[in-house]
Amino acid sequence: MEQEYDRFSREMDARAVRDAIGEGKKYHIVVYGCQMNVRDGETAAGLLEEMGFSRAESREDADLVLFETCCVRENAENRALGNVIWLKELKRDKPDLLIAVGGCMMQEPGMAERIRKMYPFVDIVFGTHNLYRLRHLVREAVEGRRGIEILGEGGLQEGLPAVRQSSFSAFVNIMYGCNNFCSYCIVPYVRGRERSRAQEDILEEARRLRDSGVQEITLLGQNVNSYQGGGAAFAELLRRLDEMGIPRIRFMTSHPKDLSDELIAAFGSLKHLCGHLHLPVQSGSDRILREMNRHYTREKYLSLVERLRAVRPDIGLTTDIIVGFPGETEEEFRETLSLCREVRYDAAFTFIYSPRQGTRAASMPDDTPAAEKTRRIEELIALQHEHTASALASQVGRVERVLVEGVSERSSETVMGKTSRFLAVNFPGKADLVGSFVDVRITGAGRNTLRGERV
Ligand code: 5AD
Ligand code: SF4
Repeated sequence: MEQEYDRFSREMDARAVRDAIGEGKKYHIVVYGCQMNVRDGETAAGLLEEMGFSRAESREDADLVLFETCCVRENAENRALGNVIWLKELKRDKPDLLIAVGGCMMQEPGMAERIRKMYPFVDIVFGTHNLYRLRHLVREAVEGRRGIEILGEGGLQEGLPAVRQSSFSAFVNIMYGCNNFCSYCIVPYVRGRERSRAQEDILEEARRLRDSGVQEITLLGQNVNSYQGGGAAFAELLRRLDEMGIPRIRFMTSHPKDLSDELIAAFGSLKHLCGHLHLPVQSGSDRILREMNRHYTREKYLSLVERLRAVRPDIGLTTDIIVGFPGETEEEFRETLSLCREVRYDAAFTFIYSPRQGTRAASMPDDTPAAEKTRRIEELIALQHEHTASALASQVGRVERVLVEGVSERSSETVMGKTSRFLAVNFPGKADLVGSFVDVRITGAGRNTLRGERV
């Protein structure tokens, strides 16, 4: 019943908006945070285009500006709010401008109410669970009411339109939400419990992408290893996708506690699975890992790395690390550095711990001065630079298959693409190569990228 009603009302809303907004209206979407938000932004674009909006070249050019917010760390929130306030100025010159704010941050308790009261120029507020209601909310706004709606939890919505950012590389959601409750993390509170899409729906989407010429898919989920309840189910999904013949398959993010034997084996056996794994470690100290509620030890993590390298010696590993978790001692921080030395990541995303209201860690005593945390992260970043440089240097002389992603910003005669291991390569070439595979001999390594030439 619910589904039937929704389909009917969505179409009604889209038609009503099309009639009300008139011709030639444009939208601009600003995305903060992770790939899940990027993918949500693509769905929002699809919904808006169905209503008759087209993409604006810039924010100033738009009739509707949508912010997809992130709440994982405080600075992401501040940046989003700062930009929303900045739009108030734009609206002074352009009173019909519609301002919409969606995403994780709106799911925080009390946030929508705060926006309603303190930011009266915001017309539309929605959360991650009711993105599919965007047409209805825009309809309310164009009819002069503020469209503010947050749902506490959501089911799965299949069949929503999307305008994908790339014609050759696509994100595919396989699951939503998270059950892990790492003690520092707000995601389970805002994105809700884990919900997996049906395997058939995912395969159908992948088939359609393949038939439209997509060369690479990246499966998305907060913890893909618990897709439909376990690593075996995820490995099975990968196997079926591998048979489909899409040249490259990637996925993120994996939780070390759920990295199954089947998934490790997949890195040795699947033809299209890329040689890269993002495996957030967060800390190298067992005590901190326990306090973080991560459910693995340093030793367990290192044994996963060893087994991955046994089945795929050239696999590239990347990670996320938090420094300055409440109570982290200098010695415990040094254990993170030594873990990095053992693993030698290709890249690491490093963060200073940011307390998030409502999480368990937010009430833990934290007496490490901010300046000390900054010093720690700087030391970690410097070490990572060394490891990135040596990973890049190890590639010189090899011939790698590169999927070309775009033309360099610096020169129209240079293109940039990625190897299977997710390393960026610049080499001479023109726009006609974008979206295709090229064999490239790696001739040099810079700070963050490789240089090469076509063979
Ligand atoms: N403070 C700092 N970093 C955090 N992350 C998640 N929550 C926090 C927080 N409260 C980091 C983790 C996670 C990545 C997406 O963001 O490292 O893996
Ligand atoms: Fe947050 Fe942990 Fe879930 Fe990742 S696994 S989204 S860090 S709670």
